[in-house]
Amino acid sequence: KNPSLLILAGDGIGPEVMAEVRRIIDWYGANRAMAFDVFEDLVGGAAYDAHGTPLTDDTMAKAQSVDAVLLGAVGGPKYDDLDFSIKPERGLLRLRKEMDLFSNLRPAQCFDALADFSSLKRDIVAGLDIMIVRELTSGVYFGEPRGIFQEGNERVGINTQRYTTSEIIRVARSAFELARRRDSRVCSMEKANVMESGVLWREEVQKLRDAEYPDIELTHMYADAGAMQLCRWPKQFDVIVTDNLFGDILSDTAAMLTGSLGMLPSASLGAPMASGMPKALYEPVHGSAPDIAGQGKANPIACILSFAMALRYSFDQGEEADRLEQAVERALGNGARTPDLMGEEGGTPLTTSGMGDAILA
Ligand code: NAI
Ligand code: MG
Repeated sequence: KNPSLLILAGDGIGPEVMAEVRRIIDWYGANRAMAFDVFEDLVGGAAYDAHGTPLTDDTMAKAQSVDAVLLGAVGGPKYDDLDFSIKPERGLLRLRKEMDLFSNLRPAQCFDALADFSSLKRDIVAGLDIMIVRELTSGVYFGEPRGIFQEGNERVGINTQRYTTSEIIRVARSAFELARRRDSRVCSMEKANVMESGVLWREEVQKLRDAEYPDIELTHMYADAGAMQLCRWPKQFDVIVTDNLFGDILSDTAAMLTGSLGMLPSASLGAPMASGMPKALYEPVHGSAPDIAGQGKANPIACILSFAMALRYSFDQGEEADRLEQAVERALGNGARTPDLMGEEGGTPLTTSGMGDAILA
């Protein structure tokens, strides 16, 4: 039985960058005898246009049944005035929620050829390869009570940071498993100095490491200090595991170490399926980029690297994932640049499919 993949290209540049992934999948079929059962469906504005909803029940069921879902991007100005319940983003939120994708993997990888694009000096970021694991389905964005309440003559806005042991343990486990495939080091970040959820987080992560992952080197850091260290010397880290709120901020910080939004992949993983592999959704970090949609200017690398993550984490093809990342690195090293990667030096930019050609070559 072939591994199965559901492609939801979505809106704006989503279908443009996904077309380059399709060419790479076809290449694997022709050159590596690696065939995938690929299904395609609609999500976001495209699904709304066709069905009046950003994600149909039928598409949701397909997403639950495949080995991995690869999503392009959703949204665009055409849909800005829709009611929140049918906005394109809701399609993505429903996928994440119903697949229970609690572990969000955001690599921050700096290809040598692009080191001058970073917000930091070249030697601080060149060759950087770290992974931030963010808890995605709990914490202060979801905790109850929440709301804006009247209290005497003042209004008060309330959110609640809440974590259970099982929520902490499952995301910590995914970080330790990941570290075993990498440099066997995990740094856990919270604010145990001022937050009860942070105290529990630190205790549970340490307990899990001592009981089941003695081969992993575990350190703890306060999240504010972690933010400083990320900008001072990011190469000290291998895997960082943290909660939903701190992970939101730290992963965006780490993203800017590496340059363009057009380069950043992500994975969101859930509980293991019958196959033993986790439920998984892969997507570039960027959105539908309406300002450049339809012009052949989109950088397909974020989406291609998301597929490389699928090869590694859903299809157990780590070596092919390495090879695909090396193909991207070599194309960049040879000077392949989409407009978002053009620096001071000038030159002629490649189109989206031109970048696909360079990577395939
Ligand atoms: P965006 O990520 O779409 O674009 C931000 C800037 O980065 C734009 O100037 C864009 O041209 C550029 N950019 C993004 N991806 C690029 C790529 N692959 N190659 C070259 N340049 C790229 O974020 P924005 O503009 O805030 O949102 C646009 C739409 O996308 C909105 O409707 C928003 O809701 C949606 N969105 C969807 C996301 C998703 O599907 N996960 C995530 C973020 C935004
Ligand atoms: Mg964010």
